[in-house]
Amino acid sequence: MFNLKAKRILQHRKIIITAGGTIEPIDPVRFIGNSSSGKMGLALVREFKRYTKNIILIHARISIPVPRGVRSIQALTVEDMYQAIKKNMDNSTIIIMPAAVSDYRVKKVSRNKIKKGKNLNLTLVPTRDILKSLAQDKKATHYFVGFAAESKDIVKNARKKLHDKNLDMIVANPAGTKNSPFGSDFNQVYIITRDRTIKTGRVKKQKIAKIMVKEVIKNLSKNI
Ligand code: CTP
Repeated sequence: MFNLKAKRILQHRKIIITAGGTIEPIDPVRFIGNSSSGKMGLALVREFKRYTKNIILIHARISIPVPRGVRSIQALTVEDMYQAIKKNMDNSTIIIMPAAVSDYRVKKVSRNKIKKGKNLNLTLVPTRDILKSLAQDKKATHYFVGFAAESKDIVKNARKKLHDKNLDMIVANPAGTKNSPFGSDFNQVYIITRDRTIKTGRVKKQKIAKIMVKEVIKNLSKNI
């Protein structure tokens, strides 16, 4: 029953899922990055793949392979990821952003490899907020899902991001050293929509993807 409903709801939609950690270059051989594995994004790809083929994975650095038969585009920097999403989205797109996106980039990338020796100061400038930029022109037919890593007041701060970034759903997880979700198969999250909050407890990322897909379908079916 759910399978049929999910297929029906998703058949006219395109799904863009981002994954992994973006990098920002310092010089030709060095970059600023993070330790995101891409596991959450790929779990979502596997889960949506049960109901539709119309999925595009846009990934930065990931440490696991892309499932076979999935259209994927590599976009390593924040700007590349923004452009890749923008180029591939249309009015029916569901955008899901588990990618760990860099908040800063190096202001002046060195054309040559920087030599060791003296102290080195890098000036960092803020990157574009991909979700916020895209959601500025959001249509009623779009559906945007963000993630939020929060070290305190998880639900309150995530709900603020939901509103500030004009999202339909945000998935909040604790950011800390204990039980870090980075690289792990597990996470504990709050799935927050405009009207409710689901607490998952510590479960596999694949299970989180399953609950998220159910909730997305439920939300989208309200509008038809
Ligand atoms: N995100 C984005 N563009 C950025 C930074 C983040 O689109 N430049 C997206 C992330 O992919 C995630 C959501 O925004 O889905 C929230 O990311 P998070 O790091 O929790 O929050 P920030 O908006 O970066 O705010 P802060 O780090 O100050 O909490």
